[in-house]
Amino acid sequence: MNILGLQLIGHDTGAALIAGLKVVAIAEERLNRFKHSSAFPGLSIDYCLNSLGLKPADIDLIVVSQVGLPGMVDMKKIFLEWPKAQEFRKIRLESIRHYDAHAASTFLCSPFEEAAILIYDGVGQGYINQFGATAYETEALYRGRENKLYEIQTMTHLRRGRDSIYSFGIGKLYQKLSAVYLGFGANNEGKMMGLAAYGDDSLLKRYPLERWVKIFLGQPICNANLFFAKTQSVKAAPNLSAKIQRLLKKVFYLRSWLRWKILSLTRRQNNFKFFEPIKLKRPARTIETLPDPYYSAVAYAAQKILEFVANFLGDRLKAITGSHNLCVAGGCGLNIDANRNFIDRVGFKNLFVQPAASDVGIALGCALYGKHIIFDQPRDWEMKSASLGRNYSETEIKDALSKFAKQISHRKANLPEIAKLLTAGKIIGWFQGGSEYGPRALGHRSILADPRRKEMKDVLNNRVKHREPWRPFAASILLNEAVHWFELDLPSPFMLLHAPARKDKKDLIPAVLHIDNTARLQTVSTVNGCYYELISEFYRLTKVPLLLNTSFNLAGEPIVETPLDAINTFLATEIDFLVVEGNLIEKLPRDDRR
Ligand SMILES: [Fe+2]
Repeated sequence: MNILGLQLIGHDTGAALIAGLKVVAIAEERLNRFKHSSAFPGLSIDYCLNSLGLKPADIDLIVVSQVGLPGMVDMKKIFLEWPKAQEFRKIRLESIRHYDAHAASTFLCSPFEEAAILIYDGVGQGYINQFGATAYETEALYRGRENKLYEIQTMTHLRRGRDSIYSFGIGKLYQKLSAVYLGFGANNEGKMMGLAAYGDDSLLKRYPLERWVKIFLGQPICNANLFFAKTQSVKAAPNLSAKIQRLLKKVFYLRSWLRWKILSLTRRQNNFKFFEPIKLKRPARTIETLPDPYYSAVAYAAQKILEFVANFLGDRLKAITGSHNLCVAGGCGLNIDANRNFIDRVGFKNLFVQPAASDVGIALGCALYGKHIIFDQPRDWEMKSASLGRNYSETEIKDALSKFAKQISHRKANLPEIAKLLTAGKIIGWFQGGSEYGPRALGHRSILADPRRKEMKDVLNNRVKHREPWRPFAASILLNEAVHWFELDLPSPFMLLHAPARKDKKDLIPAVLHIDNTARLQTVSTVNGCYYELISEFYRLTKVPLLLNTSFNLAGEPIVETPLDAINTFLATEIDFLVVEGNLIEKLPRDDRR
């Protein structure tokens, strides 16, 4: 039975294909090279079919997940309007709820026979509620047992157009503060999470927690009554472009002000006042001046509010289900501090967070839902590795190498040699097996460096990543050694937990520690193949069982997918060496390039 799952529209479109015990999945952004692409996932569908040697006519079932209001967005029609849809001759096409897809994406590939399931993100799909008003789901609680999902509670908030009328879910509040107020843009919530470690509770003293969030009838309600003042400008030399930008800003603020005015008048009419407004000033700053005390305190407050809600939802799930196991998905599942609390504070014993917890994972959720719930098949696959991309053949790698013959040299190299280069402070691009599903590089499309070198963070930022200097880099550590180096007593195979470094170890690995001496960790075991062996070699040479691991991409670009992408990125940066399936690649000196 061959089942294709699709995230058809919205951000992070993509495809996943299950054929027996074989699973392949990819986001469209990796193929069309537009980050968080919302394009129809045609390339992803072809990629999945080709990698398993299947044709459209071999597919038994296609499952898509609802985006927007079911009455207004017809998901089946969107698929059927794709010119190639007619090639899927014996097609059975099903559309499922967005949160059902998230829940399937985490529980049905987890190691647990039964578990509590928490879904929370920005917004899910829309509904027309019993009063005829438009509402969007924001959090949901489920229980999973064997191959079934049981919905416990789905929480919604009223919307009008794109605006929340009275209240937000936690994901939307977090997004709003990160993307709009802090100016990090969409889908960059990880930046605010990193900034929070520099902050204090000064904003929470001014606006205590109850001004931001209330629990009402078992549901967390977050304050949507937020007003962000105009930014106090940072002085710059006047030029035409700056003048145009200022004008556009004025138009933008006028538009926003009018919208808020209209909404607030509507609220007054309805006489509904759940929250007093929160008015945040905007002291002048540039991204470069972060972390500063004021904006870090905002990030700190946002993080504490999210953790409060996550703890509440975790407590509620634990009380209702009595389970020791928790599965999490939805964009908020990428929040490592909240994840850690589910174990330390809420008291779950085991945690599984889908590595593609955000909407990237919807395609896999759809395919799993099709197999286990629509076709009622028993569970037979556990997601032990995030490497769901396809392998590249030796011929494809040779072709890529020969295409760049004028710019690079290459030879076979063994793992001790590569580990030695790392100990000498070299930055290495690492390409191995199928790409990772989700936003984290986990030793398949990674940039690796020596965690012992304090200067490595700045070197990597200046030469390769060009990220904000205050953001931390993550670490991949041998699973058996993790407990000796960090306060971590459970595996974190998908880099979705953080842990404080042990006191006697923190000075040994400065390049991977955040300001609060914690690190975002991937625990690496034999499941990770060659990557496990490379870290073991590094351990033998240095007595340090971990490597600095960051994603193999340029700032603002998707992670590399093909050997060609990897070589292109290698040549566009100052990465010292590139390793593609055991081939050690060096740049030719500029004078020698033919
Ligand atoms: Fe979602």
